Order: sequence, then C-alpha cells, then structure tokens
Amino acid sequence: EGYTVVILGATGAVGTRMIEQLADSTIPVANLHLLASKRSAGKTLTFKGTPVTVEEATPESFTGVDLVLASAGGSVSKKFLPEAVKRGAVCVDNTSAFRMDPEIPLVVPEVNEDVLAQHHGIIANPNCSTIMMMVALEPIRQAVGLKQIIVSTYQAASGAGQTALTELYQEAQDYLDHKEMQAQIFPTKGEAHHYPLAFNLLPQIDVLEDNLYSHEEWKMIHETKKIMLGDMDSPKIKVTATCVRVPVPISHGESIWIDTGKPDATVADLRAAIQAAPGVVLEDDPAHQVYPQPINATGKRETFVGRIRPDLENPGAFNLWAVSDNLLKGAAWNTVQIAERLVAKDLVHPSAAAE
Ligand code: A2P
Repeated sequence: EGYTVVILGATGAVGTRMIEQLADSTIPVANLHLLASKRSAGKTLTFKGTPVTVEEATPESFTGVDLVLASAGGSVSKKFLPEAVKRGAVCVDNTSAFRMDPEIPLVVPEVNEDVLAQHHGIIANPNCSTIMMMVALEPIRQAVGLKQIIVSTYQAASGAGQTALTELYQEAQDYLDHKEMQAQIFPTKGEAHHYPLAFNLLPQIDVLEDNLYSHEEWKMIHETKKIMLGDMDSPKIKVTATCVRVPVPISHGESIWIDTGKPDATVADLRAAIQAAPGVVLEDDPAHQVYPQPINATGKRETFVGRIRPDLENPGAFNLWAVSDNLLKGAAWNTVQIAERLVAKDLVHPSAAAE
C-alpha cells in the first residue's frame, strides 16, 4: 500500500538527502526508483535500510509512477518532467526550470501551500536562499508587516552540488599543502573564468546578467514576490539582493534588512512572531552570545533566526540574521514537505486544477 516514487538525481548532494527525508516523512512509499545519469547506473544506495539499485533515467522510467522528486539540473527536469506528467505522475521539481511559469505553483508550505490545489502535474521548489528567507519573514509579514527587503547572502559551497563541495575541500587541502589551487567549478559551471573558493569570497552565484545582477539575485527578488504575493513582478514588497558564495560546506546565512512599515514595531514583536511560527526557531540571546551558525543548523529542517535589532535611524526597520541547511529546507526537505502536503490534501493525481 502506498505510492510509487521516483527520485531523479538520486546520487547528488540534494538527491541523497531526498532519500533520507523521504524515509523520515509521512509519505507511504510502496516502491522507490532511484534515477541518475548513465554514469551512476548500477550503483547501490539504501532506503530505510534496503539496498536500491540506481537506474539511468529514460522517459520510460516514469511509467506507473505516482510521485517524482527531481534535483538533477534544469535541463534534465525540462527533458523528463513533461514525460512523467504525460504518464500520470505528479512532480515536485527542485530546479529553476519551471519556477517562473505563471501556471506552475512555487511553494514554501509555511507560506503558500494553498496554491498546491492549482497544480497541473508540476510543482516548483524555490531557490534555497529564497526558501529560508520566506520562512524567516512570513511570520513578521503576518504579525507586523513587510514593505521592503534588502538581503545579503552567505551561501555554502554545497549549493552548487556534490562536485563543487569536493572542489572546495581539495582547494583547502592544496592551500594548506602550499600547492596551487585548481578552480574548475566556482563561481559557476560553464563560465569563462573560474576562481578558488577556499579562503576566498565570490560575489557571483549563477550567471551575471545584462541588468548587472546575478541570476541568483534575480531569483531571490522575483521568487519572493511570487511566493508572498502571487505575482513575480508585484511592487507591493520591494526586494533587492546581493548573493555571495562563502567557503562553508553546508548551510546558508543571510543578513536581512527589512522595513515593516510600522514605525512603532519593536524587537519583541518580531521575536514573538517568530516564536509562534512553524519551521522557524528563534536563536537570539545576545547576553549569552547565542545566534544562528551554519555548523549548528546543518542536518536540521528548521530555519534559525537571531541578531534581531532595530535600524536606529529608520523606525519600523530591522536587521536580522538567518541560517538554514541549504540541502534540507533549501532543497530536499522543502521538496519532500511539498510532497507530504500533496498527499495530505489528496492532490497526487495529474492536473488537480482540472477536477
Ligand atoms: P550522476 O551522479 O549520474 O552524475 P549534484 O547537484 O550534486 O551535482 O547532483 C546532480 C544529480 O543529477 C546527480 O544525481 C546526477 O547523476 C544527476 N544527473 C546529472 N545529469 C543527468 C542526466 N542527464 N540524467 C539524469 N540524471 C542526471
């Protein structure tokens, strides 16, 4: 009894976490198929202690499948997810392939799970940096208000995948051995120039666009508007972002400035809002030097918020610091959580909107 589930990209940094998060979820799994590229076909991974052989993804892999969790890159999702939907599967996609399609729900369950009911077979999981910011700010938006966001990110190497994480470790080893660091992936695959990340900071995540923003920064701006307001171009919340890759293996940090639009709002109001909300943990005790750190957030599903303090010259504006595991809430857990909500709402059938 249960669903036939596929994980596409099962051998990757996110895919391996999807296997674990699925095992720890409320989703009844009758059969699990693990798909990757030809390179990984025949490898063995384990699900709930049982070995599962990795298969090469082909369109036929999706026959008889109920639920697909995808994290194998945008082009792989574009190729296979329409094939899966044609065969009757519902797909939760962790890539950027479909996020900005107005017909496709872009979901952080703590914020906008109601839009799941409108799906046509594909649901998009937002960018890792956007998800954690939404979890941190939605309770403040609901309880106090939110008119403007200025965010700077401190993004972990694993956000660029398992091979990128391996590159960071190798660079660190080479640096300490007084050898030359060999950069091949960072700041982003396919670029003309590559720079070491170890002992460095790179203010480029994804490609730099003609508007002078990186594509990651563009995603944070427009995904925020789509998730909170249902319109990727809404002027109702102003958003700007600077995205920086840091030599941390796992868990992103974000320095966030917000204007609540309520001049009499207090730190206590913001703390209370966060304490009452799901998915977010207040970790804010300056007297005891308690604040969120990547080392402590790694392996946890929640987003941690601290250092909440007023902007001393702008009443109603605040600074805060948020940290979350980019591979879990930023990717694998949010994807599995969306699938849990689909199961709970009986929406695991193609084109819920048509019924
Ligand atoms: P593989 O391990 O066979 O390369 P990461 O984000 O950590 O780099 O992982 C990417 C995931 O996407 C891996 O599981 C990888 O499989 C998978 N993948 C990459 N290209 C394809 C493809 N063309 N078809 C199916 N899976 C792919």
